[in-house]
Amino acid sequence: MKETIQSIEDVLTMLDELLKEESKFNWNSFYSDREKPVPFFANAPDENLVQYVQTNLLKPGKALDLGCGPGRNAIYLAKQGWEVDALDLSPQAIHWAKERATESSAKVNFILCDLFDFDLDEGAYDLIYDSGCFHYVPPHRRMNYLNIINKALKPVGAFGITCFKVGGKYGGADLSDWEVYRQKSLRGGLGYTKDRLIEVFHNFEMIELREMREMDPSSSSFGSSALLCGLFRNIGE
Ligand SMILES: C[S@@+](CC[C@H](N)C(=O)[O-])C[C@H]1O[C@@H](n2cnc3c(N)ncnc32)[C@H](O)[C@@H]1O
Repeated sequence: MKETIQSIEDVLTMLDELLKEESKFNWNSFYSDREKPVPFFANAPDENLVQYVQTNLLKPGKALDLGCGPGRNAIYLAKQGWEVDALDLSPQAIHWAKERATESSAKVNFILCDLFDFDLDEGAYDLIYDSGCFHYVPPHRRMNYLNIINKALKPVGAFGITCFKVGGKYGGADLSDWEVYRQKSLRGGLGYTKDRLIEVFHNFEMIELREMREMDPSSSSFGSSALLCGLFRNIGE
C-alpha cells in the first residue's frame, strides 16, 4: 500500500489500516461455528423492530439491512411484505443468510459487500436498519456512515438501530473517540449512551430511543438489555 497522504480519504485509509494491524478479529471465523451460543444466531428478529412494524411506525416499503449477518431481521421484514436489500462483508454470513431465506421462503436481495463500498441507489429506501453493525464503525468512518444513510434514505425514510450500551454484557467499550486511536482498538465494539446516539444522529428526528427489552431465548423475537435501540426519521436536509 502506498503510504503517502494526499487527501482526506488517504487519512481515513491510514486510520483503517492502523486499527486493522492490531485486530485479530475476523467475521468469517466468527460465523464458521453456527452452534456457538451467540444470542443473535437465533433466527428471531429484534423485539424493537417487531414493535415498530406491529404498531405501524413502519409500513412496508423498501428496506436496507446494514451488516445483516445471518439475516434474521432482513428475513422478518421480507415476510412482512418489505422489499429487502441486505448487505454484509462476511461471505460466511451471506451464505448462511441465503440458506435461511430459502428455508423460510423469504425473498431477500443479499449483497456481499462492505457498507463503505456499497454502490447505493440514492433516495431508494423507506427504511435502513442496523442491528449490531454501527458499534463496529470506527470514529473516523462515522461521517461516511451518516452520509450513506442520508443518501440512501427517502426524504422521510426511517433509520432503525440496535447497538451496544456502554459497559453492556456483550461489549460496549467506554472509549472516547481519541482513545480508540491511542489504544489502536475498538476493544470489541464501542459502547453508546442515549445522549451520544442523539448527538450522532442529530440530523434526524428521534421517534423512539430506549434500552432493548430482555427477551426469553424461547421467544419469537430477540432482545437484550445490554443493547440500546432506536428509531429515527430522516428530516431531509
Ligand atoms: C453483531 S453482527 C450482527 C448481525 C445481524 N445484524 C444480526 O443482528 O443478526 C455485525 C455484522 O456486521 C457486519 N459488518 C461489520 N462491519 C461491516 C461493514 N463495514 N460492512 C458490512 N458489514 C459489516 C459483520 O460482518 C457482522 O455480520
